[in-house]
Amino acid sequence: MQTDLSKVLITGASSGIGESTARAFSSSRYELYLTARREDRLAQVAQACEAQGAGRVVVGSHDLAIAGQGTALVRDCIEALGGLDILICNAGFGIYGPIQETPPEDMAHIWQVNFQSGYESIHEALPFLLEQEKGHIVLVSSIIGKKAFPFSGSYCATKFAQVAVGEALWGELKGTGVEVSVVCPGYTASGFQASARKTESLRSMRRLGGGQSSEIVAQAIVGAIRHKKREVHLTLSGQFFCMASRLFPNLVNHILAWVVNREQRKTR
Ligand SMILES: NC(=O)c1ccc[n+]([C@@H]2O[C@H](COP(=O)([O-])OP(=O)(O)OC[C@H]3O[C@@H](n4cnc5c(N)ncnc54)[C@H](OP(=O)(O)O)[C@@H]3O)[C@@H](O)[C@H]2O)c1
Repeated sequence: MQTDLSKVLITGASSGIGESTARAFSSSRYELYLTARREDRLAQVAQACEAQGAGRVVVGSHDLAIAGQGTALVRDCIEALGGLDILICNAGFGIYGPIQETPPEDMAHIWQVNFQSGYESIHEALPFLLEQEKGHIVLVSSIIGKKAFPFSGSYCATKFAQVAVGEALWGELKGTGVEVSVVCPGYTASGFQASARKTESLRSMRRLGGGQSSEIVAQAIVGAIRHKKREVHLTLSGQFFCMASRLFPNLVNHILAWVVNREQRKTR
């Protein structure tokens, strides 16, 4: 990978896409600051990255459900590594279930972890990155941050918000030397499905379309940084889904409602 950026902060680095991204940056040209809640998992990931040749790896435990931790982790990274070049806002979890079974407290929780904490990190990092006139911010959103799925409304809201901030920021940062990319994976094999919260009436949700590995998403993140891509949609089905949603929004809404409701009736 050819880029002159070197100090990389990754949230949600204890598993899945974050872990694979840490490994993708594990060469002597990069110093990593990895954060999540599970310290034992972070230590294992750090060990693997060092064994792979990462320049330096520092881990920090932060619970992003706590307001202000998104800010704190950027400060901690800059102090530990002596700087920051690439900020990857990746931490997140899912809630599956109808809005009527998702109380406002659960919405506030997922909003804080998936969106607000990343906003805090970006807000804290921006003056630093703008001052050094280089840097790259990556928001790991989702293909359902482009088109909402029934029974995933709270999760989709956080992912739509990431797309919006990334898009606005891209325009604001033009010509500053600081770049922003939004990466939108489709279904990805990771710890995500197991840790997703399911509401009372919903037991399972079948995914639509094919998926990919967390390593493929990590490569897409690396590619987005290298090629300064504004937005990346992974998987052919994801790209088709986005295009169809733009061209035929009502038809796609009807098809989604039919497919997902049929699936729910089966699993109840
Ligand atoms: N998997 C998919 O199908 C898929 C599809 C599209 C987008 N995405 C997005 O990709 C991102 C990464 O997900 P993944 O698939 O890699 O799932 P994952 O394996 O479950 O990883 C989620 C990461 O987020 C961290 N995290 C969760 N809650 C946290 C909290 N309160 N404080 C700090 N860290 C927290 C977890 O670490 P700890 O548990 O150690 O805190 C973990 O490292 C998420 O933003 C997700 O929305 C995933």
